Amino acid sequence: MMHKDVEKILYTEEELRSRVKELGAQITTDYAGREPLLVSVLRGSYIFMADLTRAIGLNVTVDFMVVSSYGAGTVSSGQVEIKKDLSDSIEGRDLIIVEDILDSGNTLYYLMEVLRARKPASIRICTLMDKPERRSQPITADYCGFTIPDAFIVGYGLDYDGKYRNLPYVGILKPSVYKKP
Ligand code: PRP
Repeated sequence: MMHKDVEKILYTEEELRSRVKELGAQITTDYAGREPLLVSVLRGSYIFMADLTRAIGLNVTVDFMVVSSYGAGTVSSGQVEIKKDLSDSIEGRDLIIVEDILDSGNTLYYLMEVLRARKPASIRICTLMDKPERRSQPITADYCGFTIPDAFIVGYGLDYDGKYRNLPYVGILKPSVYKKP
């Protein structure tokens, strides 16, 4: 069972639900009269994206990108590759980039550059979680669900080795799972 690999629950389903509702309400207020385009950076953000869009009381459109750091491992290499690009033009649109976690900032630093060149009207970043102490690029989130410590977290979209994304809460993974003897 996947639950046995979790050392501690960091945010329960209920806490996630209520914080995501608040973020949605804030976006609804800030974008009143506009139709933002929410861009989900897959794969980690898929669950947050689904809940966030339903917490926004405006007409929104959605699009998806698959981005991945070159190389394997738990530390971002700094180089980013677009594996799947957006389906539609973003020119003149009010973009909200939706991320599950902001860590070194490498992914968004690169992505912001690519997207800015396509001339959207505005770009903001909405991340569920932020690890500011890990930052190596000058990226800040406009909307942030939780500022978290530098722990190995999984669930609510976040994986380890492709697994645990379907945990309904965010939890800290037991070190024994990723530290092989
Ligand atoms: C995670 C997360 C961000 C990125 C953040 O994706 O979804 O895209 O890392 O890290 P950074 O700030 O150091 O760039 P990951 O590469 O784990 O892929 P996934 O979304 O498919 O799980």
